Amino acid sequence: MASPVISCRGVAKRFDGRTVLDGVNLDVHAGETMVIMGGSGSGKSTLLRLIIGSFLPDEGEVLLLGQNLSRLSPDGRDSLRRRFGILFQSGALFNSMTLFENVALPIQEHTDLDANIIDIQVRIKLELVGLLEHADKYPSQISGGMKKRAGLARALALDPEILFYDEPSAGLDPVTSAQIDRLILDLTKKLGVTSVVVTHEMDSAFAIADRMAMLDKGRMLRVDERAFFDRLRLATDTDALAMNSDERLIRQFLRGDAEGPITDRRDQSLLERQLFGGGTVSTEPSLVPTRVPRKN
Ligand SMILES: Nc1ncnc2c1ncn2[C@@H]1O[C@H](COP(=O)(O)OP(=O)(O)OP(=O)(O)O)[C@@H](O)[C@H]1O
Ligand SMILES: [Mg+2]
Repeated sequence: MASPVISCRGVAKRFDGRTVLDGVNLDVHAGETMVIMGGSGSGKSTLLRLIIGSFLPDEGEVLLLGQNLSRLSPDGRDSLRRRFGILFQSGALFNSMTLFENVALPIQEHTDLDANIIDIQVRIKLELVGLLEHADKYPSQISGGMKKRAGLARALALDPEILFYDEPSAGLDPVTSAQIDRLILDLTKKLGVTSVVVTHEMDSAFAIADRMAMLDKGRMLRVDERAFFDRLRLATDTDALAMNSDERLIRQFLRGDAEGPITDRRDQSLLERQLFGGGTVSTEPSLVPTRVPRKN
């Protein structure tokens, strides 16, 4: 198989001494849609930021399109930056610019193309996301779903090989969110781009993923084909008895069940806090005695 377009090997990231990602391995192959899932605070956005080089790992290595971001010169980093697009959680459009100007900006900044060529490029991108007729509107004049699509047009401006999406359907109604999913699928197939999508919306995840990755508290529980996760999601309670603890945890997450290993863990930590009072109590089972026996 061709070498992966993204490769994370043993990646760890700490903030203020707190480990947010630990020993994370993830390969993404050309042309696939990889969905990264996990609860709030599990480290999804952090992993995305490490992959795009917003910050460097404390341990391990991240290769993007075969290159190690931390070893590139600023020029090398700039030219690598041009090869991927990002759709941020908010869409992040410039409010003082029309949609046309928003999409044109990265092309003007990164290329020497003539204005009339840029004009054509921008119109193609706006047409791809169904916003050509709104080219002259400002972000304040369009809906949330349209802003997301405009953000996508801008992410596509430089014909990226990889597209990163952080929670593309957050804050959208179900129909608009399904439209965004459809658009992600269409674009991936039409343009042959590789997509990495962070989401905790399961309907979206299963609609668009070729493969899926599940993070839990900074640990990568599993990276596998969509079919693997589908089986876990559909497994009965009896099937679940034969699963290992990671699989049971993933199953609860995928099904959104109110009871299971995730909630047991939370209840456990709550119980410990009630028993032993405030402070941060590890939710991991510990063999270390909480109180040191007093010597007489
Ligand atoms: N720049 C930062 N400085 C300090 N802590 C951070 C920073 N970025 C993230 N964190 C912490 O790292 C942990 C993981 O955050 P991250 O944003 O990656 O989670 P997430 O899985 O994307 O969550 P959500 O689903 O809520 O977006 C959180 O506890 C967060 O507070
Ligand atoms: Mg996030």
